[in-house]
Amino acid sequence: MYTQPENRSQAEKFTLATLVKMKSAGEKIACLTAYDASFGALLDNAGVDLVLVGDSLGNVIQGHATTVPVTMDDMVYHSRLVERGLKRAFFMVDMPFMSYPTPEIALNNAARLMQEGGAQMVKLEGSGHQAEIVRYLNKNGVPVCAHLGLRPQNVHKLGGFKVQGRGKTAARKMLKDALLLEKAGADIILLELVPRKLAAEITAKVKVPVIGIGAGGEVDGQILVLYDMLDITPGRRPRFARNFMEGAGGPRTAVEAYVKAVRDGSYPALEHSFD
Ligand code: KIV
Repeated sequence: MYTQPENRSQAEKFTLATLVKMKSAGEKIACLTAYDASFGALLDNAGVDLVLVGDSLGNVIQGHATTVPVTMDDMVYHSRLVERGLKRAFFMVDMPFMSYPTPEIALNNAARLMQEGGAQMVKLEGSGHQAEIVRYLNKNGVPVCAHLGLRPQNVHKLGGFKVQGRGKTAARKMLKDALLLEKAGADIILLELVPRKLAAEITAKVKVPVIGIGAGGEVDGQILVLYDMLDITPGRRPRFARNFMEGAGGPRTAVEAYVKAVRDGSYPALEHSFD
């Protein structure tokens, strides 16, 4: 049964059904990445609804320029760590580069993330081309999040980290891909660096929850790389990421401020979005 956040016990484990009910109730879903047990527990206790072990660990933990070098063993290792810190939050883990070239290989690797890493859902960077893989995972009982828009594993093809879906043709293709992946069985759509009006249109047209990062405020939930919102990531912070450490007493209060801002819609503001 769905219960409002203030009535939920700390130990009530989130499931996919909880997130779907949050979408229908118009309640925003607050999501963050984590890479170890201590931050997993901090996020869980601060009220984060969904924790992702992102392959962004290639950047923020391993110091690579891209997520391409991240391996399945890296993902399984960090998933095990984070999972030990979680009691309540829904737990999603990224499929790294080249871990899903065919449906069969994707299923073997997704099974590792669920059985060895404790994932409740896997995320893959998809376009319409991945529909067959999503369908196969779905048929075999693997919950899937399809990551559209900027797909960092494709950075060398895309030629940089740029807003995706600008212009009529590209926007129409992204909407078509989202509907195709939903039909294939994707349980969540994640949109990265997408113009806010297009993200709002996709959110209205699909039934599954839509989580955004740099995709404006008219989606069902928000996600950020933890180290970006805590202002730990070296170099320039992405425009869509607010520094929640500003004015916070420490990481726990910064994460609580993020959860509150996502819930009340004050984050993201227009300055964090793209046209
Ligand atoms: O790897 C990651 O952290 C992600 C988020 C940016 C959504 O995919």
